[in-house]
Amino acid sequence: MMYSRIAGTGRYLPERVLTNQDLEKIVDTTDEWIRERTGIERRHIAAPGETTVDLAEKAARQAMDAAGVTAADIDFIVVGTTTPDVIFPNCGCLLQERLGIRGCPAFSVEAACSGFIYALAVADRFVAAGTARCALVIGAETLSRITDWNDRSTCVIFGDGAGAVILKPSAEPGLLSCHLGADGTYNDLLFTPYGTSRRPEPGMPEASYIQMKGNEVFKVAVKTLERLVEETVTANGIDSSAIDWLIPHQANLRIIEATAKRLGMPMERVILTLRDQGNTSAASVPMALDTAVRDGRIKRGDLLLMEAFGGGFTWGACLARY
Ligand code: COA
Repeated sequence: MMYSRIAGTGRYLPERVLTNQDLEKIVDTTDEWIRERTGIERRHIAAPGETTVDLAEKAARQAMDAAGVTAADIDFIVVGTTTPDVIFPNCGCLLQERLGIRGCPAFSVEAACSGFIYALAVADRFVAAGTARCALVIGAETLSRITDWNDRSTCVIFGDGAGAVILKPSAEPGLLSCHLGADGTYNDLLFTPYGTSRRPEPGMPEASYIQMKGNEVFKVAVKTLERLVEETVTANGIDSSAIDWLIPHQANLRIIEATAKRLGMPMERVILTLRDQGNTSAASVPMALDTAVRDGRIKRGDLLLMEAFGGGFTWGACLARY
């Protein structure tokens, strides 16, 4: 049996940092409120003109270096993003051009905060089947572009960034299982009102910012993630104590704590980046993975549980031997 295996990781955060204190000057909020309700202290914001693909390219190059591969090796590109540079070409194609690659499939997956897990699950199938031999999988976002900086209930939460992994075939495990799901009946709890095809009424503002019923999102997220991690553990016939690291989507510290508690995992074995990065949607899981790989916490052979939940609602988990 062939597996796909993470051969290298990378991440990139834009230079500009926006702290909770900075936000106190923009909207009616306090550092204390943001920290207590979310666990976030600061987030990175893309510079004017800096796009999702700009961030993705930097993360991709780092992951390629870490995996010891060159652009010529890559034969599959998939980008999870909710904030593409343009409607088309998709971010995968734009990234392919930046990297000087031609011919391989390149596309984006639109699954909000679960975008990276969805992208990883797709790439895993291609690599494990032998169809792709070196897949570049990205989660990248410039959420600051769809954030209403006058809305204190959302602007304190989100940030920009990109994370990347290279997947290669391996006789050793590898990605063990991926579990994806969605429930579109919740489309009114976390959404943007307009896009390409659905337009505002004539005379209404053109801007299409993130709208969120935070409290209700919170409740469904906790319940869904508890069910999801249990499903993943059960499907693999393991006890959750076998998991070395939980790498959750960085939405809210209280959501992450609830998931860790359900798994019986101490917070020391949970990778947390949201304090310094906020919620970066599809970028959060690969950036957290890369952070812990580079600081030496995650070692070869460790068992990782990655999970995410986001607008749609969508959700996904991957159990992987690093
Ligand atoms: N600063 C100060 N007060 C704020 C605020 C802010 N930034 N944002 C909202 N408030 C106020 C509200 O207006 C409300 O005031 P009221 O009681 O006078 O009406 C009060 O705080 C409580 O709001 P509520 O939305 O019930 O707070 P909460 O405890 O649910 O926390 C979130 C809000 C957004 C932090 C929380 O619901 C959350 O994290 N939800 C999940 C969001 C998420 O993960 N989204 C992404 C999924 S991928």
